[in-house]
Amino acid sequence: MKKVITYGTFDLFHKGHYNIIKRAKALGDYLIVGVTSESFDIERGKLNVRDSLITRIENVRKTGLADEIIIEEYQGQKVSDIIKYDIDILVVGSDWRGKFDYLKNYCDVIYLERTKNISSTKLRSEGIIFNIGVVTDSIEDNDFVQESKYVSGIHVERVFSEEQEVAQRFCDKYELDSCWNDYGEFLSDVDIVYVKTGLNKRAEYIETALKHGKYVISDSPMTLSSDRLRRLFELARENNVVLIERMTLVYLRAFNQLVWLVHSNLVGDLVSVKCSISQDDFDGGRTFNETVCTAICAVLKLLGKNCQEVRTNAVRNHDGEFVYDMISMKYENALATIEIGTTVDIENELVIIGSNGRVTIPNDWWNTGYFEANISGKEFLKRYSFNFEGNGFRYLLQELMIMIGDKRTECTRLFYDESVKIIEILERINK
Ligand code: CTP
Repeated sequence: MKKVITYGTFDLFHKGHYNIIKRAKALGDYLIVGVTSESFDIERGKLNVRDSLITRIENVRKTGLADEIIIEEYQGQKVSDIIKYDIDILVVGSDWRGKFDYLKNYCDVIYLERTKNISSTKLRSEGIIFNIGVVTDSIEDNDFVQESKYVSGIHVERVFSEEQEVAQRFCDKYELDSCWNDYGEFLSDVDIVYVKTGLNKRAEYIETALKHGKYVISDSPMTLSSDRLRRLFELARENNVVLIERMTLVYLRAFNQLVWLVHSNLVGDLVSVKCSISQDDFDGGRTFNETVCTAICAVLKLLGKNCQEVRTNAVRNHDGEFVYDMISMKYENALATIEIGTTVDIENELVIIGSNGRVTIPNDWWNTGYFEANISGKEFLKRYSFNFEGNGFRYLLQELMIMIGDKRTECTRLFYDESVKIIEILERINK
């Protein structure tokens, strides 16, 4: 019996998919179709998939051509499947030509011509596209334009800056459609606004955009006043739009997994969270407030919002400039410390100590795909690693698109009350 296998995402099932499955089946006696899992697609940076795994499997099943359907869950699985199922031929479309030649050591590899003029990508682009406009005061884009290309249903088109020249240069640099220095006109033809100006102007731009019924993404923190932040969130609710802050940490699979694991007792009761962060290395912004709010966010996610006491011990140089601080946040049964500094050598690290072991994220923990756990009584370090592409912005954009699709106005990765709590703590530190 000749066994054939083929793989795909099979999103928005179309004629091209049907054709390749049919032709694969004709090459043998038994056909196995591998359908990619959601986590595998996310892991390889394919964030635009619309249909759930169940729907995609069901669509393949309905062709009546597959003798068996399996799920492709990880990189390198093809070799293991070919051996396990004793496969004779692997079939893929011609867009993959050459890419699977390494499997020729295990079975025949046949590339079939793709069906012309149809693809999941094409079908996706026929849906609604949301226009994004950037509000900026510099010509750096934080890789936003590039990152947005990985998420379907959005297109960065416009840029606004109070300074005409900045807007023009930004527009040219990132090949956008138009630049503006009248905020009202800029807002008239965008659906989503990304506010990335300096902190002193952010809240004002956010407020106006929300009043115009626009979805807003803003660099973090949005304001240094918790009252103002509450009002912004109320405004978002009243206008039925989403206000989301660029706190990359909460979109990272590794960080979320870490939080779930420590909350599932991985290292016992939490005793201490130690975050060290250098302002000079932090890529979410270089100011004290922009840097420290990511560390506070990590602490809140791990120890909760019931922080009883916040202390700060800022060190300044002879010119009165901020150099270093060791902030402590006291909880009923735990203590968090945030070591932050600029121009001094801080070793970036996040360490969580529990009654039964510790978890460490080494280096730039705010942008990571890796952590390790050292559990008492176990000889070996347990290592967790997750693929993570770009600077994390695409995961936020993907979440925003899901929220818009679900008509949700609150982000479940970082709840409004968590954002407000971060600013309340910041207020105490800045006092
Ligand atoms: N395929 C094909 N003809 C098409 C589209 C896809 O033969 N017009 C084949 C691919 O080459 C692959 C399989 O169908 O072997 C599954 O492809 P998949 O990536 O799921 O579909 P695409 O439409 O290519 O998806 P996307 O646009 O998201 O890349």
